[in-house]
Amino acid sequence: MLTGGGDCPGLNAVIRAVVRKGVEGHGCEIVGFRNGYRGILEADSVRLEPGSARGILHRGGTILGTSKMNPFREERGLERLVGNLQAAEVDGLIAIGGEGTLGAATKLSEEGVNVIGVPKTIDNDIAATDFTVGFDTAVQVATDAIDRLHTTAESHNRVMVLEVMGRNAGWIALFSGLAGGADVILVPEHPFDIDEVCGHLRHRQSEGHLFSIVVVAEGATPKKGTLPIPTYERDEYGWPKLGGISTMIAGEIEQRTGFETRVTILGHVQRGGSPSAFDRVLATRYGVAAIDLAAKGRFGRMVALRGITVVDVPLDEAAARPKYVPEKLYEVAEVFFG
Ligand code: F6P
Repeated sequence: MLTGGGDCPGLNAVIRAVVRKGVEGHGCEIVGFRNGYRGILEADSVRLEPGSARGILHRGGTILGTSKMNPFREERGLERLVGNLQAAEVDGLIAIGGEGTLGAATKLSEEGVNVIGVPKTIDNDIAATDFTVGFDTAVQVATDAIDRLHTTAESHNRVMVLEVMGRNAGWIALFSGLAGGADVILVPEHPFDIDEVCGHLRHRQSEGHLFSIVVVAEGATPKKGTLPIPTYERDEYGWPKLGGISTMIAGEIEQRTGFETRVTILGHVQRGGSPSAFDRVLATRYGVAAIDLAAKGRFGRMVALRGITVVDVPLDEAAARPKYVPEKLYEVAEVFFG
């Protein structure tokens, strides 16, 4: 088993479930690789007994550590992965991760390695599942932040711009914005027009509401030809280091409307701390389902939630494309703009 990519609350709950059901239910030996795929490449692993998986259900982060390393970009990556898995006598690999980790898991599976995926990311942008581990907790953190911004916004008659995570998809912005009663929500799926944003804020003001809350996903971009499209540095693994779109938006709002505006970038607070009850239960169900699949020899699958049922789907369905916020859901949020 490994945890890869950005961490999130609920990873330890998956690990606990895999170990408890694997060892006590199926008589498996469970090994955890440290720091994502790096642990396989460097043969860095730890035997996980039920004892080592106790007391971690409620703890954020991951006891295995994680990294964003893409093993296929490393020298002789595939050969080293396959060789080290064989040397460790691994019959099957449970890869707990998001887009990058599940993409690599799919390639490994295509190369004949026995892999099962477990979807986790606070961004909730994995296709083929309704919810990923970590999303619910992040939404709760962002909603709490909106509630707090509300009171101070109201005291000072300010516009508060809250930036939340969401690289390709605006799930956190949409859910927390709906839950927190945001006046405008900006998501990557809908390039925004700053004039429209200011129009909503002016409309509120004209109706006597002297403060406003704007929630923006970090991956949101302006409509072409309206404002400069932001560019971002890349991290050592090639992923853009997003963050800061809210500062540009706040500056434009203040300049165009004259409303005093402040920015809050929530950042990694959304990824830390204890998982919500929903995430603990989802993670536990995913962990049990993943090790059950392994015990049956059903590899090349990812566990997923459909409605209230945990199912399994082909691994490549998850990696094929991101899951975007559907138009219909954004329309619900728009009812409350302005
Ligand atoms: O896990 C995905 C994500 O939460 C993105 O929304 C965000 O852009 C990214 O992680 C930040 O990751 P890090 O700063 O850890 O590289």
